[in-house]
Amino acid sequence: MSILEVDSVVVRFGGVVAVNNANYAVAEQQITGLIGPNGAGKTTSFNVITGLQKPTEGRVRFQGKDITGLPVHRRARMGMGRTFQRLEAFGSLSVRENVQVARDIHAGLRGIFRSGRSDVDGVLERVGIIQYADERADNVPTGVARLLELARCLVGDPKLLLLDEPSSGLDESETDEFGELLKDLAAEGRAILMVEHDMDLVMSVCDEIHVLDFGTIIATGDPAEVRSNPKVQEAYLGASVEDHDASGAGRHVAEDLTEQTLVDIPAAEQTTVVPAVNDQGVRG
Ligand SMILES: Nc1ncnc2c1ncn2[C@@H]1O[C@H](COP(=O)(O)OP(=O)(O)O)[C@@H](O)[C@H]1O
Ligand SMILES: [Mg+2]
Repeated sequence: MSILEVDSVVVRFGGVVAVNNANYAVAEQQITGLIGPNGAGKTTSFNVITGLQKPTEGRVRFQGKDITGLPVHRRARMGMGRTFQRLEAFGSLSVRENVQVARDIHAGLRGIFRSGRSDVDGVLERVGIIQYADERADNVPTGVARLLELARCLVGDPKLLLLDEPSSGLDESETDEFGELLKDLAAEGRAILMVEHDMDLVMSVCDEIHVLDFGTIIATGDPAEVRSNPKVQEAYLGASVEDHDASGAGRHVAEDLTEQTLVDIPAAEQTTVVPAVNDQGVRG
């Protein structure tokens, strides 16, 4: 069963096709990865799913309902939670207060009143940052701030969690713990859709992975299938060049390659692949 279905979604920004007829689904109680080089359309896809971006064409269904025209708060009320690539916490509030505010917003959306802090502290414990509860949010290490983002999301008890680059700022052991936490969250019945550049994390936690390149889904499968898919390997190898789209914004993907663990490429074979790109930023 799918909790989310993205059906023939297109997003155009002027001449740039950021998402090009994307079709994919997110299964209930599973961890699904959405990966691809920088500029592939991952964040735009998240914005379409959460309602920040209206698709030029196509539909989005959540729990079987067409939500394409629904505003962000209605989707949140239905059980969609999201973290942002950019950290969004209130710097002058404490870690606990940040989660309390998020809790109150979620409660307000659902028309219920909650007080106290037991549920808030429960979530802080869950993500492993209770020891930072009284610190100002702008004073904690980036890794803690990332987990705070997750806590702010979890306190709304989402059925579908959308995570944009959740592991950035986490060190290796924090990332391992984070992966275990994601598996626990899925096991307790939540679906997770994750945009993530750390391929070790993606490959170790995801049940299914969708690969975007130039706005197009070029592969869907389990980690082993995706890893061995020649199109995926080419997309990531091609990522070693700077490619420019029609907006001139550029496609700076070198950082993906330095993190490159998708395929082990002997140094001598790291040739540059320059894909032909038409004026819509879409490979011809
Ligand atoms: N608001 C916007 N206006 C114009 N172009 C945009 C906008 N948002 C994204 N883009 C372009 O859409 C493409 C996909 O961007 P994005 O979804 O941010 O990719 P990713 O998250 O995979 O790195 C890029 O070419 C980017 O420059
Ligand atoms: Mg992005």
